[in-house]
Amino acid sequence: MRRKDRIIDADMRLYYDAIAGGYERVYAGADADASLFGHDAAAVGALLPGLVGKRHLDLACGTGFWLRFYHPSCESVVLVDRSERMLDECRKNVAALGIAAKASLKRADLFAPAFPAGTAFDSVLLGFIVSHLSPAEENSLFTNVRGVLVSGARFILIDSIRAAGRKRETIQRRTLPDGGSFRVRKRYLDEEELEAMGKRNGVSWRALFHGKAFILAEGEFMSPFDRLGKPSHNR
Ligand SMILES: C[S@@+](CC[C@H](N)C(=O)[O-])C[C@H]1O[C@@H](n2cnc3c(N)ncnc32)[C@H](O)[C@@H]1O
Repeated sequence: MRRKDRIIDADMRLYYDAIAGGYERVYAGADADASLFGHDAAAVGALLPGLVGKRHLDLACGTGFWLRFYHPSCESVVLVDRSERMLDECRKNVAALGIAAKASLKRADLFAPAFPAGTAFDSVLLGFIVSHLSPAEENSLFTNVRGVLVSGARFILIDSIRAAGRKRETIQRRTLPDGGSFRVRKRYLDEEELEAMGKRNGVSWRALFHGKAFILAEGEFMSPFDRLGKPSHNR
């Protein structure tokens, strides 16, 4: 990782530890964009049960906010995050939903070799993580994800939409009520960027919801034949 990326990554790690306890207030309406976020979260949440498979992986799960919507669709779920504080909040959500028997929480870095290996998942959710990644991190994440999905598994992406006039890529300074201040990489997505990300990583995406704040897309890894532009039925 380049020095600049390492510095931002260290700040982001501190930031998510610091906001873990209050993280879901964004979805519940604490910020200026409250009604916008609340509306889009409900719309995205309503579509998730139809997308999540039986053996599901929730990467960079944070507090596991989306569990409340999708958990009836899966028989098992592995929730991965590197922040112990986020996982503590996630554990509370799992307990409140009464799904401890089918949920396992793992503390791991998305780029570490100890990525949940040896398991095959039918679906994976990436919620608001891709927008935080450098190009090298993005590539490494997609490679790791490809290794743990069964063929034809569903790739589910929820992230931030780029509003008109907003820069696509930013390094933001986020300040918390206690004065803590952190630099966070943030890339806003639009259809064009979604397609470019798909091409870079061999995923074909279909946007299912395009709100004012959030985008929801589902995708599948393309076969090498598809990637060369040949239809897979020619195999
Ligand atoms: C914006 S939150 C998203 C949480 C949740 N997916 C959601 O949609 O609400 C980003 C999460 O990614 C986690 N994260 C960031 N970089 C990570 C990494 N390299 N490995 C594992 N988790 C990471 C953070 O700890 C944080 O919980």
